[in-house]
Amino acid sequence: MARPKIALIGSGMIGGTLAHLAALKEMGDVVLFDIADGIPQGKALDIAESGPVEGFDAALSGTTSYEDIAGADVCIVTAGVPRKPGMSRDDLLGINLKVMKSVGEGIKEHAPNAFVICITNPLDAMVWALREFSGLPHNKVVGMAGVLDSARFRHFLSVEFDVSMRDVTAFVLGGHGDTMVPLTRYSTVGGIPLPDLVEMGWTSQEKLDAIVQRTRDGGAEIVGLLKTGSAYYAPAASAIEMAQAYLHDQKRLLPCAAYVDGAYGLDGFYVGVPTIIGANGIEKVIDIKLDKDEQAMFDKSVDAVKGLVEACKGIDSSLA
Ligand code: APR
Repeated sequence: MARPKIALIGSGMIGGTLAHLAALKEMGDVVLFDIADGIPQGKALDIAESGPVEGFDAALSGTTSYEDIAGADVCIVTAGVPRKPGMSRDDLLGINLKVMKSVGEGIKEHAPNAFVICITNPLDAMVWALREFSGLPHNKVVGMAGVLDSARFRHFLSVEFDVSMRDVTAFVLGGHGDTMVPLTRYSTVGGIPLPDLVEMGWTSQEKLDAIVQRTRDGGAEIVGLLKTGSAYYAPAASAIEMAQAYLHDQKRLLPCAAYVDGAYGLDGFYVGVPTIIGANGIEKVIDIKLDKDEQAMFDKSVDAVKGLVEACKGIDSSLA
């Protein structure tokens, strides 16, 4: 059987890291695409030249032509601009919306059967716009945010509790922004929910609240440190996990920015929710019960995303 084909639309910091991880994990052959001629070709060649040392079998190529993504099984979209210190993800809206239009049209024409994972920010609005521009089925277009946000939450918790990150599970809902909703009730250490750990005296409510806030600000913390761009290792690893769930029909339960129609009282809207990813893309949206406070936080997050979607419609009338 031929190897799967993975097209990376955008070959910057996240795109290059995605290509490296996909090759190391032998997920398939990788095509790097970018509008900046030389970057995708250079990164593809550099990673290919690490193959003999690493011992992986994967073909890598770089291109500025959408024709070369033809027949891709997975497209991971990072095309656009990242934020600089002091910018919010929302400040990227106008410029990245134009990028989503060209990317969506490219995918529609050359890779209409792909599973498309969007990473470009502001994520929830961009994945919605990308779906609109590409016309692909909703279950095949998804945004990467929840896996990253919960990975950040898990990392901070593992440091606080001094336990392996593997034993920490975490749940984050809502939009990928300051209004994201880390759910402590559904987050555990070795299966013990975080509120129980507070009761057991393993940590304090104040410390837990600080970790929740640090998770919300996780992207800005990295931007502040790097100064010239935003995070790329953890975002790339998170999207790779989603791509593997699709390629291997793993039925993973992962939080993603998915199209929600019916669940959570929403009718046709992209926002971060727990999903099952398998060979059919987003196979299910899991409608978990929220308490009053959680619902209020979720509603606030949805309203923030709605505002961005409306702003997109104002910028590009074809979306209205
Ligand atoms: N088509 C294809 N590629 C494009 C386009 C376009 N229309 N416009 C820009 N690009 C490319 C740039 O040339 C650059 O190589 O997208 C790449 C973006 O890479 P970086 O600037 O390194 O940004 P990165 O850190 O990878 O983040 C990309 O993901 O997390 C989000 O907020 C982040 O929106 C940003 C995106």
